[in-house]
Amino acid sequence: MQKYDVLIIGSGVAALQLAGHLSKDLNVIVLTKSHLKHGNSSIAQGGVAAALGAHDHPHLHYTDTLEAGRHINNPLAVQDLTEAAPSVMRELIEKGCEFDFGEDGSPLLGMEGSHQQHRIIHGGGDQTGKRLVEGLIKNVGPNVEVVENLFVYELLTHNHETCYGAKGKDANGDIHTFYADHVVLSTGGCGQVYEITSNALTVTGDGLALAYRAGAEMIDMEFVQFHPTLLYVDGEAKGLVSEAVRGEGAKLVTSNGKRIMKGVHLLEDLAPRHVVSQTIFDYIQKDIDIFLDIHSIPHFQKRFPTITKLCEQSGVPISEGKIPVAPGCHFLMGGIKTDQVGRTNINGLYAIGEVACTGVHGANRLASNSLLEGLVYGKRLAQTINYGNQKKISTAPFSYKRKPSPLLHLPTMDHIKSSMMKNTGIVRTEEGLIRQREMLESYNIKELLEMNYDRLSINQMTTIFMLITSWMITSSALGRTESRGGHFRSDIPIERDEWISNHITLQRQWEKG
Ligand code: SIN
Repeated sequence: MQKYDVLIIGSGVAALQLAGHLSKDLNVIVLTKSHLKHGNSSIAQGGVAAALGAHDHPHLHYTDTLEAGRHINNPLAVQDLTEAAPSVMRELIEKGCEFDFGEDGSPLLGMEGSHQQHRIIHGGGDQTGKRLVEGLIKNVGPNVEVVENLFVYELLTHNHETCYGAKGKDANGDIHTFYADHVVLSTGGCGQVYEITSNALTVTGDGLALAYRAGAEMIDMEFVQFHPTLLYVDGEAKGLVSEAVRGEGAKLVTSNGKRIMKGVHLLEDLAPRHVVSQTIFDYIQKDIDIFLDIHSIPHFQKRFPTITKLCEQSGVPISEGKIPVAPGCHFLMGGIKTDQVGRTNINGLYAIGEVACTGVHGANRLASNSLLEGLVYGKRLAQTINYGNQKKISTAPFSYKRKPSPLLHLPTMDHIKSSMMKNTGIVRTEEGLIRQREMLESYNIKELLEMNYDRLSINQMTTIFMLITSWMITSSALGRTESRGGHFRSDIPIERDEWISNHITLQRQWEKG
């Protein structure tokens, strides 16, 4: 029997920050479905927001975060995050994390959409995620075991009230069971349930589906952020073109050079992401291609080496000064409902980073607040666990009856992705959402939640997790009869006051007896 103090599922910034801050006396294991450095965190470009500038203040960061989130955020969570940001970043700088610094030794601060101030700390130009992950890995001690290529498919609970471990499958199909006092989901979001996405291939909503299946409460699942500028060539997304490019002065234009954000929003090209994405989407629907005009940016290759390489690999020469772009799924604001240290409604189960919803992002996340969230909440949960006031959980095996596996009838992943893009995407309608929910439910989600996964392949389980996650997003989007932030309903294109303090929650129900 493998028994740990802390079991961390996922290996992005939140997971590594947690692992690095846990007491060295604790026996910790990190399980990742791929490799430690493969995932969304490592490919993050823009940076980390923190009020470090001479004219900046956490309160300004706070107001920008609320405004981007369309004021449905949890204000206490926003206050916590923005106040913690400067010290968390200073700590990383002191530990030698390789950010970009000016001649005076202070970090260079970039600009991104909806920020009132230059406050984006970056590394290697546009390689912030990579630098951060490398820096955090150095802080992880020998008390932390890392297991790669292990797909977690089930959380072990007593009556869906207490979590005591997880089961996973390796590439050979062998099952491994892990027991722990504290089980932490840090699996990121679900970009890959959409056809066009900036997310790594591994980001298929696993943690969300695992948690829902185990009985965790989910919240705000309708709020999906579509990043305005993914490199778009021959009808395919090739990767992210960071908002920092617009922060440095690039403009969104048609092939004739018409600026599309002029007159749409006061902040023009740096308007909130949902505004920019919806505007580009309208043009693309009318078969009008949109480009980022980067002529005004000096030394583009030096400031944005990753984007330069991405463009060159896709046959888009930077020297021509125009990058073709389209919006794509980038971030999930909703997720597993947690308190301000990452506790879920299930005793012993925690969630941090994108998979969690503390309410900090509201209806739309402010640029560069996601790595920050992982850093702040990773550290905070470590402090809570180290403090040792968490209830210890019995690890006695629990016997449970399961229904025999039904014959599996699953859609292709491509079908899920294209239908989600069409019906639960950037612009939604009641009709499209109902169609999508019916399609998803035709695969018998209820049965899929119930069944035993032990004999399923990783591919089958991934498809099931994508179905469950897509169903949660679509059902929640149908429930929210207004438009707000990342959730835009063209049949109700307005924010409605009665929704400002309302959140849609989902929780699996079991028949009694
Ligand atoms: C970007 O670089 O544009 C993405 C950063 C973020 O999503 O915060």
